[in-house]
Amino acid sequence: MNKRRVIVLSSVLVGGLLAAVLGLTAAANAPTPLLPGITAKDEHPNGCVDCHVKVNDKQDYRLVNLPTLVKGHPDISKIVKTLPNGCELCHNGKGKAPKLSNVLHEVHFKGGAENHFVAFYQGQCLNCHQLNVSTGDMTVKSGPANW
Ligand code: HEC
Ligand code: HEC
Ligand code: HEC
Repeated sequence: MNKRRVIVLSSVLVGGLLAAVLGLTAAANAPTPLLPGITAKDEHPNGCVDCHVKVNDKQDYRLVNLPTLVKGHPDISKIVKTLPNGCELCHNGKGKAPKLSNVLHEVHFKGGAENHFVAFYQGQCLNCHQLNVSTGDMTVKSGPANW
């Protein structure tokens, strides 16, 4: 084979390799995504009730206050014992209450970057969902009502 051609070819190869390595370095420098329970400690292992808490009298984010947040919402203080399972007594897609997953995905993502769930919690699915990396099972976290 023509020697000159081999040299040209190999420099093309080296150039390509270098580009690939540079690409990889750029990827390696990208910040590690914050995935609760996977790349970071899970700060909300019980889901809803770990975020929707009473901070003080002015900031009470507990979901027992739903009737004041959603016009016409029934009182849930006595019915709901576990969250979010208890919500599905009504939010099961059968009655007047819309399906729970739709309701929750909407309120936590609507408004994009303006949404506080997106702004303060990276809009991380794994705040509510739990992923078992050994089995690939995805479940929804739950916890006892905090009222
Ligand atoms: C990591 C924290 C976090 C978790 C976990 C979480 N939420 Fe929220 N939730 C928020 C934030 C922040 C908002 C306010 C979003 C906005 O800016 O409108 C919100 C809003 C809501 C709202 C709208 C009414 C309100 O309080 O503003 C409902 C209803 C709600 N969440 C229910 C739930 C339920 C049920 C679960 C469990 C399946 C849950 N949330 C889990 C942080 C959380
Ligand atoms: C006793 C039945 C019942 C239970 C339990 C219940 N809900 Fe509801 N919810 C309703 C009904 C009915 C509506 C529809 C209200 C309307 O539009 O008039 C509703 C509406 C909502 C809405 C507004 C949805 C929209 O798109 O307008 C949110 C948010 C909501 N519920 C969250 C929850 C969460 C979170 C829980 C559990 C902590 C819960 N609900 C438990 C009956 C219930
Ligand atoms: C605020 C809590 C919350 C967040 C955040 C959240 N989910 Fe969910 N998701 C739920 C709940 C509750 C259900 C209903 C589970 C059930 O019915 O057993 C659900 C159900 C689902 C389902 C099953 C299909 C359905 O609609 O019932 C899929 C798929 C899903 N979520 C994907 C996601 C993805 C992807 C993200 C992130 C972009 C996400 N969820 C963020 C609470 C959440």
